[in-house]
Amino acid sequence: MIKVAASILAADFLNLGADIDRMRAAGVDYLHCDVMDGRFVPNISFGQGVIRAAGKSGVPLDVHLMIEEPDKYIDDFAALGAKIITVHYEAAKHLNRTLAHIRELGCLAGVSICPATPPEVLEWSMGDFDVALVMTVNPGFGGQKIIPSAVRKIAVLRDMIEKSGASAEIEVDGNVALNTAPEIVKNGASLLVTGSALFKAENAPAFVSQLKKLEP
Ligand code: DX5
Ligand code: ZN
Repeated sequence: MIKVAASILAADFLNLGADIDRMRAAGVDYLHCDVMDGRFVPNISFGQGVIRAAGKSGVPLDVHLMIEEPDKYIDDFAALGAKIITVHYEAAKHLNRTLAHIRELGCLAGVSICPATPPEVLEWSMGDFDVALVMTVNPGFGGQKIIPSAVRKIAVLRDMIEKSGASAEIEVDGNVALNTAPEIVKNGASLLVTGSALFKAENAPAFVSQLKKLEP
């Protein structure tokens, strides 16, 4: 079963509450919260205050940390009720320790890889994460165009996870839309993050249910 996470980076921040209500009514499984520090990525987005507010909606939070030194903030986001906390492989100095800490705090541990990072870097961390987040655009901005080689990487990662016997979910983030999602799902993703395409959709509930109906 496909799950959908609405990336609130694409919301109207002046009407965030209304936009989140709209996403809940559309049937999303998560609110995907992109935290950016202007160092790991060139952009700055939002932090604890917005996430605290989003959590009041009752929709589970999927917190994507695009920040250097993620260990400094993991406790904060767990305390704010995040269900998934994802750090970047490229930013985590001691990945296995970081992932273990996320689990100790009662959250699902996620690790993300940028488009230029080979999936094989996760080989020796199999079993240590619950979610592998494959970025299909370079992180930092919504509304970018998909990078086709990153989509092919999803299948490689799915095979690695299957062969290892671990049970991790593959999440995909970056230009997930009705035209790109079928291949993404065929390659093994089961959690789809969508920002611009979903928030701009004329019929958000129909958009979400079309994504959820996709079959591997
Ligand atoms: C990009 C973020 C994404 C972004 C996706 O760095 O991680 O979550 O919001 O937006 P779209 O769906 O517009 O590519
Ligand atoms: Zn994201």
